Amino acid sequence: MSATLPGGAAPDRYAVIGNPVAHSKSPAIHAIFARETAQSLVYERLLAPLDAFEASVAAFFAAGGRGLNVTLPFKLEAFALATRRSPRAEAAGAVNTLRVEADGALYGDNTDGIGLVRDIEGTYGTAIAGARILLLGAGGAARGAVLPLLERRPATLVIANRTAERAQTLVERFASAAAQAACVLHGGDARVASSAAFDIVVNATSGSLSGALPCDFTVAPGALAYDMMYAAEPTVFMRQAASQGARTADGLGMLIEQAAESFRVWRGVLPPTVSARRALRAPSQPE
Ligand code: ATR
Repeated sequence: MSATLPGGAAPDRYAVIGNPVAHSKSPAIHAIFARETAQSLVYERLLAPLDAFEASVAAFFAAGGRGLNVTLPFKLEAFALATRRSPRAEAAGAVNTLRVEADGALYGDNTDGIGLVRDIEGTYGTAIAGARILLLGAGGAARGAVLPLLERRPATLVIANRTAERAQTLVERFASAAAQAACVLHGGDARVASSAAFDIVVNATSGSLSGALPCDFTVAPGALAYDMMYAAEPTVFMRQAASQGARTADGLGMLIEQAAESFRVWRGVLPPTVSARRALRAPSQPE
C-alpha cells in the first residue's frame, strides 16, 4: 500500500485472509468503520494458498500487518496457530480474528457469535433472555453460536442436526455453561426441531448454500427466524419461516456486527454499524 499519513507514517494494515476471498465484503465494511471512527488504516483481501495459510499469516505480520480476519476455510487452522486465545475462541474451536500482542504472542479471537447475538438483540429487537431457541446445525458455525447464546440466558436451547450425534456432542460440550445459565439444553436429529414452538430459530447449517431446507420446524407467534447465510433473495429457510408468520433475518447483519467486534479487538473502539448496514443493503453493493 502506498498511502501515507501527512507525517510520513504508513497507515496500519489489516486484511481478510481466505480462499476464495475475492467476494469478501469485509474491506468495504472496515473502510466505513475507519471513516466513521476517524481511524487511519487500510484493509485488504489476502488470498492464501490452501496449503500455505501459516506462511501467509507469518509473512503478513512480518511485513508489519496489525490484524487479520480469517474466513473459510482457515478458521480451524487459525485456532491451531494462535498461541493465545480468548475464551470465546476456545468455546467456538475456531478463530476469525488475529492480532500480534506486545510480547509477540499471536492472539486469536472469535467474534462471530457475539455478532449474531448483537444482531438478534440490537437490530431485530428480539430478547434472547428467557426465549425458547432452536439452533439448526452442529458444525463450526453452530458451535460458535452456542456459548454467546447461552450467556444471554435463554430458557431453552435445542440443537437439531441431520446427524444427531454431532448435536449430542455439542450438548455435552456446553452442558455446564447451560447449567450456569439456568438454560435447558438438549439436542437430537431433525425431529426435535418440530417437537415444540420456538421464539428464535437460527439456521447454522450450510443448507441454504444448496437451496436445501435443513428440516421442518415450528415457530411461536412473533418469532424471529435467523439464517446465518445471506443472499440477494430470501433463503428457503427464511421463506419457510415467513410462511408461518415469523419475522426473518439473513446473516448480513451478523457479518457486519462480527466485523465491528473485530475492529474493537484491534482498535479499542466499537464502531457504529448503521452506515455499513445501509451501504451493504443498497441495490449496488460495494465489493
Ligand atoms: P460450518 O462450519 O459452516 O458449520 P460444517 O461444519 O461442514 O460447516 O457443518 C455444516 C452443517 O450443515 C452441519 O450441521 C450439517 O449437517 P450434518 O452434521 O448432518 O452434516 C448441516 N447441513 C449441510 N447441508 C445440509 C442439508 N442439506 N440438510 C440438513 N443439514 C445440512
